[in-house]
Amino acid sequence: MLVWEDEVKLTPTSSLPSPVPQATGLSRVLPASSLTQLDSVVSTSTLDAAMASVSAARSVKAAPSSDSGAGRVNIAEKRIINGRTDVNQLVPFKYKWAWEKYLSSCANHWMPQEVNMSRDIATWKDPNGLTDDERRIIMRNLGFFVTADSLAANNIVLGTYRHITAPECRQFLLRQAFEEAIHTHAYQYIVESLGLDEAEIFNAYNEIASIRDKDQFLIPFINAIMDPTFNTGTLENDQTLLRSLIVFACLMEGMFFYVGFTQILAMGRQNKMTGAAEQYQYILRDESMHCNFGIDLINQIKAENPQLWTSQFKAEIKTLFERAVELEYRYAEDTMPRGVLGLNASMFKGYLRYIANRRATQIGLEALFPNEENPFPWMSEMIDLKKERNFFETRVIEYQSGGALSWD
Ligand SMILES: [Fe+2]
Ligand SMILES: [Fe+2]
Repeated sequence: MLVWEDEVKLTPTSSLPSPVPQATGLSRVLPASSLTQLDSVVSTSTLDAAMASVSAARSVKAAPSSDSGAGRVNIAEKRIINGRTDVNQLVPFKYKWAWEKYLSSCANHWMPQEVNMSRDIATWKDPNGLTDDERRIIMRNLGFFVTADSLAANNIVLGTYRHITAPECRQFLLRQAFEEAIHTHAYQYIVESLGLDEAEIFNAYNEIASIRDKDQFLIPFINAIMDPTFNTGTLENDQTLLRSLIVFACLMEGMFFYVGFTQILAMGRQNKMTGAAEQYQYILRDESMHCNFGIDLINQIKAENPQLWTSQFKAEIKTLFERAVELEYRYAEDTMPRGVLGLNASMFKGYLRYIANRRATQIGLEALFPNEENPFPWMSEMIDLKKERNFFETRVIEYQSGGALSWD
C-alpha cells in the first residue's frame, strides 16, 4: 500500500494573479495569530492587528470565489498556499494525491501498546543481554526521538497548518499530527517498559551535543512560521514557508531519522530488542509517508508559484542539505564511537549522501554527491513492510468503540 518510490504528481496551474495578504484558510475565521498563541505570547498590538486581519478576511470571504455561485468552490481556484477558496469545503478534490495518502495512513493505523515488549525487557535487564555500545545506541536513539516527534507535531499544528489553504492537504496534516503523537507515545512506551532514566532521556536534547545541534538547526524553521505575525502572500514569506517545508520533509523526516532507524532495525535483524525494532518499523513506514507527502506538497507549491524557485533560493537549500548531512553524520559518530552490529559511522557517510541525493532530486535539485550507492538496501524493504502484512491482518484489535464507552 505504501510505496517508497512514490511518484510526485503535479497539477499544473497558472500562477496567482496577485499576492493574497491574509489567505491562510482558517485565519479567515480565527485570528491569524491562532488561538494557541493568544494566551501567552500575543501582545495587545498583535491582537489588534489580528482582529483587523479578521475583519479583512471576512470581507474576502464574503465575496463570491467563482462564477459558479456565492461561496461554491471552483477547483481551478484551489491553491496549496494563498488560496481564496473556502478551506472548510473538502470537496471537490483537486489534490487527490493528498486525499489518497490520508486514506493510506488511516488504513495503516497502529498503537504502541499492541507490540509486546517482554523480550526487550528481559534482554535489557540481563547484564549480558546487550553490549555497552548497543546500550549506548538505544539511549542515544531514544534521547533524540522522544522530543523529535514533538517538534514535528508542533511544526504542523502551530506552524504549517494555518498556511496551507488546500483542505485535502490539511486533512493529511491532521492525520500526520496524530501520528506524531503516536510516535512520541511509542518512544515513551519503550522508555517506560525498559525502566530507563526518564530525566536523562527526555533532557538529551538539551544535554547531548550531537542531539542538541540537530534540534537547534531545526527550531528556527519552526519559529519562523509559528510567529503569529507571519503570513504568506509575499515572495519573501512564501519562500520562508517553502524553506520550512523542505527542511522538515527532506531533512528532518527525510534524513535526521535515518541513522537512528537504521541502527535499531539492524538490532532487530539480529534478533535483539525486537519489540522496539517493530515499533521503529511502523514509525519508519509512517515517516516515509510524511516525507513523500511533504515532497508532493513542495513540488505542487513550486508548480503553482514558480517565482519562488530562484537560483539564490536553490543555492540556500543546497547549503542547508550539506549542513544537515554534516549534523547527522556527527550524530552517527557520537552514537557509534566503535563498530557495532556490523555497522560503523563511516558507512553512514555514504548512506547520508545517498539519502541527500535522493531528497534533492525529489524536489528538483541536482544530486549533491553524485554516484553514491545505498549501503543498506534492506532499509527499503523495511519501509514498505510488505513482509509484515500478516501483523495487520491477524492482530486482535481492541480499540474502545463508542458502544464500549461509559459515562461513569
Ligand atoms: Fe514521527
Ligand atoms: Fe513525521
